[in-house]
Amino acid sequence: MNYKLLELQTIGDERGKLVSLESNKNLPFDIKRVYYIYDTSPEQIRGNHAHTELEQLVIAIDGACEFVLDDGKNKESVWLNRPDFGLYIGKNMWREMRNFSYGCKLMILASDYYDEREYIRDYTTFLDTIKDSKDIQ
Ligand code: TYD
Repeated sequence: MNYKLLELQTIGDERGKLVSLESNKNLPFDIKRVYYIYDTSPEQIRGNHAHTELEQLVIAIDGACEFVLDDGKNKESVWLNRPDFGLYIGKNMWREMRNFSYGCKLMILASDYYDEREYIRDYTTFLDTIKDSKDIQ
């Protein structure tokens, strides 16, 4: 499974807490893009795609949601519900996001610019792609 839940170092005092994210220091790639998701209601499902190259770090800045991660063989569920944890997702991982709490805000740091050509949005194509990449190795 090409994902990892990372505990992010928090700098805190009586004024509150602060988390700093730096390329190739506490996250394992160069940040080229930041986007965020908000106003998603609990019955909505997002994601349902994989990336052939992109790496991402997802942080639930506020609220909670569930990620179901799938490498074509196994599926695992990860809950994001703390701003001091980040979910690193590497390439070739199918992901579904669901069970959004009201007010959930996800911030996503990405290793590259948005490029629809690098998305796999069809699950059968995903299974074929990972099979092909294993055959080449
Ligand atoms: P999508 O990747 O389907 O969202 P999610 O994975 O959260 O379900 O993206 C939704 C739309 O936004 C789609 O038309 C592509 C567009 N989009 C951008 O234009 N730039 C971006 O950086 C991202 C992530 C999506």
